[in-house]
Amino acid sequence: EKGTYPYYMLKEINDQPTVMRRIVKEYTKQNGSVVIEPEIVEKIKASDRVYIIACGTSYNAGWVGKALIEKMAQIPVEVHLSSEFGYNMPLLSKNPFFIFLSQSGETADSRQVLVQTNRLGYPSLTLTNVAGSTLSREADYTLLLLAGPEIAVASTKAYTAQIAVLAIVAKAIGDASGNEQSEKFDIAHELSVIASIMETIIDEKATIDQLVTEYLSDTRNAFYIGRGVDYYVSMEASLKLKEISYIQAEGFAAGELKHGTIALIEKGTPVFGVITDKKTAAHTRGNLKEVESRGAHNFVISLASLSKESDQLVLPDVHSLLTPLVSVVPTQLIAYFATLQRGYDVDKPRNLAKSVTVE
Ligand code: F6R
Repeated sequence: EKGTYPYYMLKEINDQPTVMRRIVKEYTKQNGSVVIEPEIVEKIKASDRVYIIACGTSYNAGWVGKALIEKMAQIPVEVHLSSEFGYNMPLLSKNPFFIFLSQSGETADSRQVLVQTNRLGYPSLTLTNVAGSTLSREADYTLLLLAGPEIAVASTKAYTAQIAVLAIVAKAIGDASGNEQSEKFDIAHELSVIASIMETIIDEKATIDQLVTEYLSDTRNAFYIGRGVDYYVSMEASLKLKEISYIQAEGFAAGELKHGTIALIEKGTPVFGVITDKKTAAHTRGNLKEVESRGAHNFVISLASLSKESDQLVLPDVHSLLTPLVSVVPTQLIAYFATLQRGYDVDKPRNLAKSVTVE
């Protein structure tokens, strides 16, 4: 029930801190270790490559999952769009393990891949929000996202829940392999910190509403740019913006803009820069300068430790592996307010269904 909220999407954005705490409660122990079925950990540890298969927002979460698993578990990960993978399957490694990401657990594009990997006898795990869903029943293992029903067509809390559960999986494998970075990573603590920070960001929503008026009220297009995980969040941020506000938005690798796409920057084009990674912050700022000198209206979302006074939104610092969990929240609110301001239905955008059961 959306209760006193005007839209499900706003309620679901607000649910995120609670979902983070629920995931901590369900998947971690007092001593800081994570609890998932040992067989899942063993099977992934025994594989030589993980293939993440998903669509849309779940696909965008998959990229963050790749970063987490590769860093903590030291297993190579490939991320694929279900609708492409099924019909043009790449050469697979000797012992692949498949992770299907699907909020609904009913997405036909993802299911056709699972049917094939089952036929080939490969082990699989589904991360889904819906117990007993098709992808859950047909995969060898399931981990639930515990996000509660997601009603708004635009996915928000399922995205952050997917990243949190993928972090749990990555740590479980890392710990089982004696990885030092993984053992030192107090995930329960970090996710609890993130839950509180999400609350403070959501409390700032009037500021975000105001900034959206300033940046997006009469624009047809917009860009989100970043590098590494900030690029992955940019892809999700732009999907959210276009699917509900109908502003044509593109998420771009900051360093790649100058290889062509920068031609689209005109006077006043909004460019959102996501900066949460110390390694790449200076480079992304350089790219923001490049677009600014071509007339872009820059909007910088940065972590406090990497921020400049001129940045539009500064987010409290969080663990470097989990920054997408906080940087995505303002972008969800940006999409929400842009849509409200344009007078569109936030929860039911045109041409879209919540669960896509055709290929
Ligand atoms: C976007 C959105 C879609 C879904 C996609 C996959 O906000 O909701 O892009 O993420 O259709 O759906 P699931 O995760 O149910 O497989």
